[in-house]
Amino acid sequence: MKIRRREFVKNSLLLGSAALIAPRSLLSQSVESRVEILLNEPIGAINPNLYSHFVEHLGGVVYDGIWVGEKSKIPNYGGIRKALVDNLAKLKPGVIRYPGGCFADQYDWHDGVGARDKRPTRVNFWADTNYKAPDAYKQLNSGPQKYEPNWFGTDEFVRFCNLVGARPYLAANVRSRDVRVFQEWLEYCNAPAGLTTLSNQRSANGSPDPYDVTFWGIGNESWGCGGDFLPEEYAEEFRKFTAWLPSYGLKLQLIGSGPNGGDTGWTRRFFTKLTEKGMGQLNKLYGWALHYYSGTTGKGNAAEFNENEWYELISRSDRMESLIKEHWQVMGETDREHRIKLIVDEWGAWHLQDPDMPPAYLYAYAGTLRDALISGLNLDTFQRNADKVAMANPAQLINTIHSLFLAYEDKFIVTPNYHVFEMYMPHAGATAVRTEFISPQVTFTRLDAARKEVPANFWSLNGSASIKAKTVTLTAVNSDVRNTHEAEINISSARILSANARVLSSSDIHARNTFENPHGLEPRNENVIVGAGGKLVYKFAPASVTRLQIAIA
Ligand code: AHR
Repeated sequence: MKIRRREFVKNSLLLGSAALIAPRSLLSQSVESRVEILLNEPIGAINPNLYSHFVEHLGGVVYDGIWVGEKSKIPNYGGIRKALVDNLAKLKPGVIRYPGGCFADQYDWHDGVGARDKRPTRVNFWADTNYKAPDAYKQLNSGPQKYEPNWFGTDEFVRFCNLVGARPYLAANVRSRDVRVFQEWLEYCNAPAGLTTLSNQRSANGSPDPYDVTFWGIGNESWGCGGDFLPEEYAEEFRKFTAWLPSYGLKLQLIGSGPNGGDTGWTRRFFTKLTEKGMGQLNKLYGWALHYYSGTTGKGNAAEFNENEWYELISRSDRMESLIKEHWQVMGETDREHRIKLIVDEWGAWHLQDPDMPPAYLYAYAGTLRDALISGLNLDTFQRNADKVAMANPAQLINTIHSLFLAYEDKFIVTPNYHVFEMYMPHAGATAVRTEFISPQVTFTRLDAARKEVPANFWSLNGSASIKAKTVTLTAVNSDVRNTHEAEINISSARILSANARVLSSSDIHARNTFENPHGLEPRNENVIVGAGGKLVYKFAPASVTRLQIAIA
């Protein structure tokens, strides 16, 4: 496989002075790829909140993914599934977003506190959805997934966050509740005990200590299910919702409901309208949410795809990089100092519900190695943009869409996405550094808008690197389903002492974990031999996510 000339020139330009070097001299004789880790070009500290999560009252996420009930035979911590807590805690999650998603703009937090048997039952936002819902789901007419019993509310959610060591991020209802309901929620969560009626209510419900929730979303997808607003209308709502908020000594971190994928018009028009009232309005925003789902391919089943569809979905997921850059640039037209960061609080692929999942588990499926590569690719993208992205949350944690876990009754497994999150942990809090990958392109066939087959190209190797103390962590995705890519790895201004690798890969690109085969796809550790003079050459396995940890002097 050859490096295409245009790609070589592009990569060479990225490498600055290396652009003047002829192609052959860029690559040593036996090695066809190269990774340049430029320690002297830091991008920024990697926010540990890039490894955050999202749970919504949707399908089997809350009932019975998280909440199994105190009297359940399934091991639990006060009603919360023990296996989930124990495994999620190992990942040191940053933040967990709740209660939605679209559900958030249908929710009144008052319904979810107090004696559990007295809480009202309401119809769930997702009860009648036609979006990608199988007939078995549509035919259901009972159960907590469709008729919300509010057994799991603010107190249970914060308890879940505390059990796993994450911080809560709550989304306010902008579409169907007023500002006062939002302010009361803030007061219930954050006012010191004994201070107000609502903080006393929280104490009576079991928590004298305030929850200190600083992350608050002002609505969700306000361009769609969150109100069908125009950006100008949403900017007005945002100003109203944030004009006065009780802080109880906390610095609130408010997150605006940002764009759907590439809708830069939403970003530009919101920022323009918001600041009509003065540039000081920008100070209210900590972050601007971005949602992007790369969708599915073919018939839509997670585990049914051919090689072209493998590349199609992975390359579509790679759009995340340009989305971040485009919205960042537009935000900078108003927020010139770039104080406001991007919060990618919904991302992932989105396949159809597996027929062998319980009917109530809307959008639940067992993801494959392809989804794991999409996780690696996205986390690498966030790390490469550590100066721009302050939080990222795949949709969603358990039993739906791009999940890390699947659980049904007493069955519980981790998905390939979980393994990627585990592998990427050393990046949290490290400093991201500019890293360039020079590798051959893969070619595949895609369907154009007229469903005609056309040739397409995609990178084989890409990833990111960070440094913490004397350890460099390099993570990389090899999208090439057929070829190993052997790469020389250079770290500028450092000597490589030793290295080890952890690899998630399989000869079967459809490999996955299921309740019947819970260990179908797991990472393996590899020893890496560093050559004389600190020369490091590594063979990236086909269809893999790899982490190299490199000790340097
Ligand atoms: O994650 C599922 C849904 O996708 C969320 O509720 C919504 O915000 C998005 O459209």
